[in-house]
Amino acid sequence: MEEALLAWFDRHGRDLPWRRTNDPYAVLVSEVMLQQTQVGRVVPRYLEWLERWPTIQALAAAPLADVIRAWRGLGYNRRAVNLHRAAQHVAAHGWPDDLTELPGVGRYTADAVARFAFGAPVLPLDTNVRRVHERTGVTFGPACAHALMDLGATVCLARVPRCGVCPLGADCPSRGKRYAPLRKQSRFEGSFRQRRAQTLRLVAERPRRVDALDAEATDALVRDGLVQVAGGTVSLPGE
Ligand code: ADE
Repeated sequence: MEEALLAWFDRHGRDLPWRRTNDPYAVLVSEVMLQQTQVGRVVPRYLEWLERWPTIQALAAAPLADVIRAWRGLGYNRRAVNLHRAAQHVAAHGWPDDLTELPGVGRYTADAVARFAFGAPVLPLDTNVRRVHERTGVTFGPACAHALMDLGATVCLARVPRCGVCPLGADCPSRGKRYAPLRKQSRFEGSFRQRRAQTLRLVAERPRRVDALDAEATDALVRDGLVQVAGGTVSLPGE
């Protein structure tokens, strides 16, 4: 099965900018962005990010407020704070053996950096990779990481898989099955997440009086290190 998968990947794999590097910093940036944001939206932002902060030292030296502003529109802004902290950790101490020691880096992200930057023989398990494993019953090796991600994203789709064009279709025990709709991403409109995003946008424009803002949203932003409150004024960290 691996051979068929890799042959398919040679012809149909996606050419994504973070796959052209093995710089662990660049890979980390891409994986953190990809945690909760779609590939197509990440590509331009990833390229801009690396132009602005080409090295982990450059990112570590940047004011956190700039990093938070540069994250705008990617969502889940806490990721920006964690990425900045991770950069400062690496700039000060080097890359840890256990990458999950870095803020914002869980099992998947650690394994992705280990695989794509350091060449470690691990298979990072994201949703797409897990799905292909579950359906085929095959446990693929580390060399298949990108191929499994792409198969899961373009062929072995969550609800209606395209088994007719799947390189594993002939031997797949799940061939032709349909799957129930997954839980829908909860609405952003009217959500607490939206209130937080709006509050952060206001503060990123300029410091605001604390009583002019959504109090609950402000508290949550303070807890995540995205804003600071001093003397009744809310501002981005360090501003
Ligand atoms: N290539 C490497 N990591 C990826 C990811 N998380 N999503 C899509 N393509 C990738």
